[in-house]
Amino acid sequence: MCGIFAYLNYLTPKSRHEVLDLLVNGLKRLEYRGYDSTGVAIDSSENKDIVMVKRCGKVKVLEDAIAEHFSGHEFDAPVMTHVGIAHTRWATHGVPCETNSHPQRSDEGNSFVVVHNGIVTNYKDVKTFLEKRGYVFESDTDTEVIAKLVHHLWKKHPGYSFRELVEQVIQQLEGAFAIAIKSKHFPGECVASRRGSPLLVGIKTKTRLSTDHIPILYGKDDKSPQTCEKEHRPHGQTRDLSVLPRNESTSEFMPLEGKEVEYFFASDASAVIEHTNRVIYLEDDDVAAVRDGALSIHRLKKCLDDPHAREITTLKMEIQQIMKGNYAYFMLKEIFEQPESVVNTMRGRVRFDTKTVVLGGIKDFIPEIKRCRRLMLIGCGTSYHSAVATRQLLEELTELPVMVELASDFLDRNTPIFRDDVCFFISQSGETADSLMALRYCKQRGALIVGITNTVGSSICRESHCGVHINAGPEIGVASTKAYTSQFISLVMFALVMSEDRLSLQQRRLEIIQALFKLPDQIRLVLKLDNQVQELAKDLYHHKSLLIMGRGYNFATCLEGALKVKELTYMHSEGIMAGELKHGPLALIDDRMPVMMIVLRDPVYVKCINALQQVTSRKGCPIIVCEEGDEETKSFSSRSLEIPRTVDCLQGILTVIPMQLLSYHIAVLRGCDVDCPRNLAKSVTVE
Ligand code: F6R
Repeated sequence: MCGIFAYLNYLTPKSRHEVLDLLVNGLKRLEYRGYDSTGVAIDSSENKDIVMVKRCGKVKVLEDAIAEHFSGHEFDAPVMTHVGIAHTRWATHGVPCETNSHPQRSDEGNSFVVVHNGIVTNYKDVKTFLEKRGYVFESDTDTEVIAKLVHHLWKKHPGYSFRELVEQVIQQLEGAFAIAIKSKHFPGECVASRRGSPLLVGIKTKTRLSTDHIPILYGKDDKSPQTCEKEHRPHGQTRDLSVLPRNESTSEFMPLEGKEVEYFFASDASAVIEHTNRVIYLEDDDVAAVRDGALSIHRLKKCLDDPHAREITTLKMEIQQIMKGNYAYFMLKEIFEQPESVVNTMRGRVRFDTKTVVLGGIKDFIPEIKRCRRLMLIGCGTSYHSAVATRQLLEELTELPVMVELASDFLDRNTPIFRDDVCFFISQSGETADSLMALRYCKQRGALIVGITNTVGSSICRESHCGVHINAGPEIGVASTKAYTSQFISLVMFALVMSEDRLSLQQRRLEIIQALFKLPDQIRLVLKLDNQVQELAKDLYHHKSLLIMGRGYNFATCLEGALKVKELTYMHSEGIMAGELKHGPLALIDDRMPVMMIVLRDPVYVKCINALQQVTSRKGCPIIVCEEGDEETKSFSSRSLEIPRTVDCLQGILTVIPMQLLSYHIAVLRGCDVDCPRNLAKSVTVE
């Protein structure tokens, strides 16, 4: 949730105008993470003061406000070294408004300004502590305590470096955060840290970097490796900040020579890729500090298995991947990318000539997985639906019990987990807090953790024992589309790997592999239904509700279709298991209730026809999704969408596409912001 973007130019002349453009552009790339309100902080041209511009609403509003705020000011003169921080917010504490927008400040003089993602769960205790010391809070945010706490410590310990101050602060914070801080007392410096919320540092230099890693500096007191347990403090107790030991890991070692360098701190790689492809993914409790143009990474304690350095990674992402191109919305682009994204998911994994499947990221763990007690598939929202969609096939090809769980509910139930369980965590972003918490819960209990993610370097990716990158490419539209079909295929490939040596399953495997080969072209055919779907949307968009029914392999499409309709169009929509119809939902049916029904020629066809008859005999007029040329099924309604025939277990990939298109067109007709649905954000890093 929320997007952080900070930019530091060292001995690289940039006018403040350019800096602001850069910050605003960075925020536009991150806008999908949250778009309630925005803000920037830069140095004023007149003195050492920090100027902030904050606005309620999207980045465009901020952009206009910046133009207005700085008109007539001298901000075209180049500045050799400068730090700017920026933020786009998805409100958690306090309504979206200018005062609650970030940066949050320490005092009226803007001594320290902070941008923050995540939630500081003990902010009330810290706030009380600070209020007792005379601080007056102006916002309803949890973030403000961070700015004020740095300020408090700075006054108390005038000799501390900026980085040391931040180290002291993060020791006091509970919950999840990623922060970037700027101070007028430490011009040209920026300090950032994370715990449970993603943050990376992009590095741009004129010459090739002389190193591919940045050494980690550990606290002096903790040089000898030890097992570090998180300190337990009873809730509501704040440590006496005045007696904190100073972390003396202040070696002034500068891993990068302080010459003509630019740094970008960002919540994800899409915001930096147009500037540099060299990034460092920070780990929990890393404190990254730039001073005199040199970046250093610090940790307070060294644990036994901690590495000595953070690697500088080269991003494989292309700038085109994060641009809309000729499409009106990212979501539409991503829907139409699916013929290619599914190929990328299978590339190098499914060998169509030899009819074999290899998943490099989990191949060494397959024997262990085969010995497990059960498979657990855990995720949220769309990612959960991909688990529902593939459960039946996994049960069939692995011959293991398969449990499908919503991460939040799984945690609420304290679900029993055993050492011989294999737990899959499915997540596009790899940062979803509920999924990550569930992962840690299972890991602590000794289960094998398999990550199915789309984001290299994400928390789920890093904390899994093994996994599959779905390789769908960056997904920017808040509503998940291509990630769903790629997650689906990744799980199908896993089922194929698990059944490789089962003689009795060879025919079935062959049928699926052949169907996977045809899938990209079949997706192209389904996408050609776009105009037809748009016409249907014209019939539906003024209604209040839409029911989507199906069963068997297509039940997941009903859930996913209904989720897309809800989140994009704000209409009520429900995915209904057709087998449950007569147990309640049938009461909803009359001649006015919009209904879609998925009726394909698979083992549950007769049962689906039965449901269709029940609906039509109550005067319902469903839109039917059926197989190409299936005149008999089509005869039940005047409106239908025909999709190509494929193997039963892959139907869900083809049936979900009309639902994605339908939700898109209804949203456009209802005047909704397709890429940024109200109240939502792409990456849900709060529980
Ligand atoms: C719906 C949607 C959400 C996400 C959910 C999980 O279109 O995008 O339901 O699927 O928040 O997110 P990830 O997959 O990033 O864990």
